[in-house]
Amino acid sequence: MKKKNTPVRLNANENFYGSSPKVLKAVIKNTNNISIYPASPVRLEQKLAEKFKVDATNIVVGGGSVRLIDGIIQSLTKPDDEIICFERSFVAYAQLAEAHRRKCILVPQKNFICIPENILPHITKKTKVIFLANPNNPTGTIITHKQLEKLLQSIPETVTVVLDEAYAEYVTDKNFPKAVPLFRKYPNLIIIRTFSKIYGLAGLRIGFGIAHEKVAGILKKNRIPFFFNSLCEDAALTALEDEKYIQVCAGKNATERKYLLDGLQKLKLKAVPSQGNYIFVWFDSENQKDNLFKKFIDHGLLICNLNIFGQSNSLRIGIGNRKVNNSILKLVREFLK
Ligand SMILES: Cc1ncc(COP(=O)(O)O)c(C=O)c1O
Repeated sequence: MKKKNTPVRLNANENFYGSSPKVLKAVIKNTNNISIYPASPVRLEQKLAEKFKVDATNIVVGGGSVRLIDGIIQSLTKPDDEIICFERSFVAYAQLAEAHRRKCILVPQKNFICIPENILPHITKKTKVIFLANPNNPTGTIITHKQLEKLLQSIPETVTVVLDEAYAEYVTDKNFPKAVPLFRKYPNLIIIRTFSKIYGLAGLRIGFGIAHEKVAGILKKNRIPFFFNSLCEDAALTALEDEKYIQVCAGKNATERKYLLDGLQKLKLKAVPSQGNYIFVWFDSENQKDNLFKKFIDHGLLICNLNIFGQSNSLRIGIGNRKVNNSILKLVREFLK
């Protein structure tokens, strides 16, 4: 019997190329130690502090950045406070706000772009946290350094801005914020990053934040004991050391992102230019979108139908290698015939 091809995962913005082989080795080596309780991730916090040229007291490691987002809502807001994020953004902000019974205001985008200035009219005395995914997931667009600084200058210091840079390593736009210098200037800025995307460690659950010492201290204090499993620390440390791997993956993604975007746009799809490892496509008809989605799934190309996150008329397609991207373009071409 002919073996069925394994579906290609283009639906969760993971690293298409997987994790570095060096990291896999580090994980396998540590499987001997899984009977032992993990230590607090001080080595990783120290290494991240060196990489970002901040103090280790500014770094907080968490079990994936979603655990940090959860911790931020839990620790920095009270039941009556309000949270702001953009519509069509990372769904966990609103989901976790709801889980904690906090009101979450969704600011509309303009042509799928997040315009920070448009947040200002929504700020009230109750506003405590603003979440900005940059690049935004699912649309892939960015907020620039200038726009971010202007926002930080315009809001009260009592409002925390969480800059979620999960896809930062994929960005090629020179206007992308230099977040660490801004963090030094604005103590109400928290930067969060993850090992789940370009580092290829989504299954291990490692994220980290860069925050004012006091805030990082609160977030650390409120973490669950032994939150960090014993395979994580060496994996993350090895991943940070293998810079070459990250450069290679980012380079391939940038080339393929352009290729796929051009191809989709030539086919007259409303594909939005992206700075991430995925492309957002808008459809005027929900029906047409669902039919195309079905065709992708039937061909073993797993992409994201954004209606699972309550976002209508749109698909998010992960960027593959040239062979996969050609399959995507062929499939769309045939569908539109
Ligand atoms: C913008 C953004 N932030 C955070 C995450 C979650 O990352 P983690 O796996 O570190 O929880 C995602 C995952 O899709 C994301 O798109």
